[in-house]
Amino acid sequence: MTNASPARKIILDCDPGHDDAIAILLAAGSPAIDLLAITTVAGNHSLDNVTRNAQAVCQIAGIDVPIAQGADRPLVTPQIVSEDIHGNSGMDGPVLPEVTGQLDARHAVDLIIDTVMAHEPGTVTLVPTGPLTNIALAMRKAPEIVDRVRQVVLMGGSYTRGNVTPAAEYNIYVDPEAAEVVFRGAWEVVMVGLDLTHQALATDALQQRVRQAGEEAGERGREVAQFMLDIWEFFGKTYREVFDFEAPPVHDACCVAMLIDPDLVRTERAHVSVELHGEWTKGQTVVNFETKPGMRHSTGVAERMSDLRTLVATELNWERFAALVVESVRQLGDGNTGAGHDPEPRS
Ligand code: BDR
Ligand code: CA
Repeated sequence: MTNASPARKIILDCDPGHDDAIAILLAAGSPAIDLLAITTVAGNHSLDNVTRNAQAVCQIAGIDVPIAQGADRPLVTPQIVSEDIHGNSGMDGPVLPEVTGQLDARHAVDLIIDTVMAHEPGTVTLVPTGPLTNIALAMRKAPEIVDRVRQVVLMGGSYTRGNVTPAAEYNIYVDPEAAEVVFRGAWEVVMVGLDLTHQALATDALQQRVRQAGEEAGERGREVAQFMLDIWEFFGKTYREVFDFEAPPVHDACCVAMLIDPDLVRTERAHVSVELHGEWTKGQTVVNFETKPGMRHSTGVAERMSDLRTLVATELNWERFAALVVESVRQLGDGNTGAGHDPEPRS
């Protein structure tokens, strides 16, 4: 790092998933991020598939971090996978290598707890990009982590419209009880929902820049670029067919991008409740940007605006986002896989 701020220590809790894969590459490919661990959770596909996908992404890009698998189903709600969007493997499209690396022997929940407790209070940020099952379980198993975590920057929810139902976004819909636990924690949560991530499109122009960066890089860079392009080819097809999108949104990578470049995303303070019971609205994130005394939430009567701990992402600087994605190809091509990967604190 040449600038003064130390690399941001993160644990990426994910369910790869095409856009989760890009989040992994962006995190490992930025010197502004210290990727401490990757944990997996059942979501886009079965726990086994998403874990294998996470391992394959790391193998392709030469990323060496502990990977542990976690919850194989939601807390209460029956499991739902997302084959219509992510295919039979959870990450169809790219040809994946046979995985050779070993998983961390711990359950993801324990790896999260151990890692948070091993670092200075206020230094580790959790970045969940799948259903929030592991995070909720970690909070229940070791409530002391809540005080120590710097921030939770999660992909999930929306304040306008859903993508599984008209009201609900996938990660929240799959495990709404876990989501409500996370939003009610006494920590700062940043909700990076669909309103933001639908601005992060992997357009033809971005794909062309990634291709170019790959061509200018060494063998590893070329492989990473080709992997990204294969990811977007499949994801772009399903997003075109299912949602009529002109290009695939790179949802999960937005959480990592805003940690690399804090000016990349605009946020607003709000109160967020998760709808747990609605026949048509289950899994909706009810976002109140205008808390007023007397207005009711899942927590009862609203707190004052200044007491709210939740920030909701509203606007993305696409050009800065695209530049980070392209730069990650160059960095990974040069063999730079993040600021450091030691799960124990560094002296
Ligand atoms: C979220 O759901 C999954 O399909 C994606 O990986 C992303 O985390 C978008 O709703
Ligand atoms: Ca995801």
